[in-house]
Amino acid sequence: MSEVVVEVRGLEHTYMRGTPMEAPSLKGVDFDVRRGETVALLGHTGCGKSTLVQHLNGLLRPQKGRVRVLEYDLNDPKVDVKALRRRVALLFQNPEAQLFERYVGDDVAFGPRQLGLSREEVRARVREALEAVGLGFEAFKDRLTFTLSGGEKRRVALAGVLALRPEILVLDEPLAGLDPAGRRHLVELIRRLKSEWGLTLILVSHDLEDVVLLADRCFVMADGRVVLSGTPREIFSQPPARLAEFGLQPPAVTAAVHALAEAGLGVRRDCLTVDEAVSEIARALGMGGKPWTSSSCCAT
Ligand SMILES: Nc1ncnc2c1ncn2[C@@H]1O[C@H](COP(=O)(O)OP(=O)(O)OP(=O)(O)O)[C@@H](O)[C@H]1O
Ligand SMILES: [Mg+2]
Repeated sequence: MSEVVVEVRGLEHTYMRGTPMEAPSLKGVDFDVRRGETVALLGHTGCGKSTLVQHLNGLLRPQKGRVRVLEYDLNDPKVDVKALRRRVALLFQNPEAQLFERYVGDDVAFGPRQLGLSREEVRARVREALEAVGLGFEAFKDRLTFTLSGGEKRRVALAGVLALRPEILVLDEPLAGLDPAGRRHLVELIRRLKSEWGLTLILVSHDLEDVVLLADRCFVMADGRVVLSGTPREIFSQPPARLAEFGLQPPAVTAAVHALAEAGLGVRRDCLTVDEAVSEIARALGMGGKPWTSSSCCAT
């Protein structure tokens, strides 16, 4: 088994501590990620997902509990946060709002320039990162950032963090606010970052959307704690009412097989895709279709 690269134990965080406005937002979180894994962090709005991931590159420091990322101990006040951030990149929610350079090429180059790389190396990284997100280097490097579509801006922001060539990439709500085509494109891109770049990925999402299917493991948070963890299939096979308790809505196809199972049809409840559901229902109705196993039908 590969090494543990993120280890969070008993983490607590209270915003505006010691003031009348104090807001406890993490109440003892345990969380870990192994090298090369893709992990989804789920839960309804305000449950603490962004607060947790902001600890992973030192934007927030542990008030209580322990955080270790790679060989960096975030409890150590002298930890080299700059070095950590070269290896662990965090793309915030709505990153397109944070593009600040006039030209796309400069925006993507910002991080590599901070690393003190040569002009040629910066250029090579910008080219690689833009092409990785599906934006041609020649076509986009001199585009004015404000002329891009929302989906293109999101991709430029992602290119900006890829240009740092991180080992661990945290994407906070990567699909939020994109149209279906933009979502499909980004899911495909994340799939490639996983398979071709071999990145360790932490994907934050408030719902069981497509991105969850890319995950090896999911952690569901509620009210500042991790309340459920497992493979996507284990999470999706929970009764819809239980998921609803945590503000999660199962995909329509999973809800449908649950309803059929409740009605007495002998189908598995953990179908994740339309194809799986169709073959499972056909089998249960004696119309052919062979039973599938998690390994033969894995969505990842
Ligand atoms: N800077 C802040 N000051 C005070 N309270 C905050 C601050 N940031 C977050 N909070 C509070 O901490 C709790 C957790 O917020 P957080 O942003 O981590 O949730 P989240 O799970 O990322 O939500 P969402 O899905 O809406 O992004 C919320 O109650 C939120 O109001
Ligand atoms: Mg958030």
